[in-house]
Amino acid sequence: MVAAQISTTDVPDSSGWSASLYNKNASFVYSAAFTTPILKLLDAKPGEKIVDFGCGSGELTLELEKIVGAKSGSGGLVVGVDNSESMIRTAKENGLNSCFVADIQQSLEFPKVMAVPRNNYDAVFTNAALHWCKKDPVGVIRSVKTLLKPGGRFVGELGGFMNCVGVRSALHVVLKRRGHDSTTVDPWFFPSPEHYSKLLIEQGF
Ligand SMILES: C[S@@+](CC[C@H](N)C(=O)[O-])C[C@H]1O[C@@H](n2cnc3c(N)ncnc32)[C@H](O)[C@@H]1O
Repeated sequence: MVAAQISTTDVPDSSGWSASLYNKNASFVYSAAFTTPILKLLDAKPGEKIVDFGCGSGELTLELEKIVGAKSGSGGLVVGVDNSESMIRTAKENGLNSCFVADIQQSLEFPKVMAVPRNNYDAVFTNAALHWCKKDPVGVIRSVKTLLKPGGRFVGELGGFMNCVGVRSALHVVLKRRGHDSTTVDPWFFPSPEHYSKLLIEQGF
């Protein structure tokens, strides 16, 4: 006999994410093995002000806090933004103070606390979040623009064109065969470098 019960914290929130499930099943996403190259590219410095778009449960955001010296009076600041209540709750429990729930596609939702230093951030960083922003990828780029100071950098990682194409194709085929609209269940935005470059250039990057 097997008795198993799903933990209440494993139940996804209204955004579809559960921090505890994410930490159990996908910690590789924020592991050093996967994130060293992008952190190197970001090249954060002590005293810098950085926003982490789609910060999740805050593991990388906390790493960045250490680098900029956010808790050592260097003037450095890292702000985490995520549209999952569960993720932000866990990020706070993990020790991330500056973080809040908002949709990065909608900069108008950002709280006033961020509005003050708008156009004043050295960098916007993001890891494994932009491919979830299928509804309005350009909205994300516009949000980045509202935050960066002149010369600021936008450094991020997202799944690219044809990512997981085998699994996604199979999903489409099976759903179509059963009479469902398969386009609504593929939630990802996986652009080619050319496509994403075009969007960036059109928004002034
Ligand atoms: C795979 S997790 C990555 C989390 C974190 N960046 C990391 O490296 O561990 C993707 C995150 O993006 C967030 N996300 C997806 N769409 C978002 C949106 N429109 N606005 C803000 N956050 C979003 C999810 O809630 C989730 O926490």
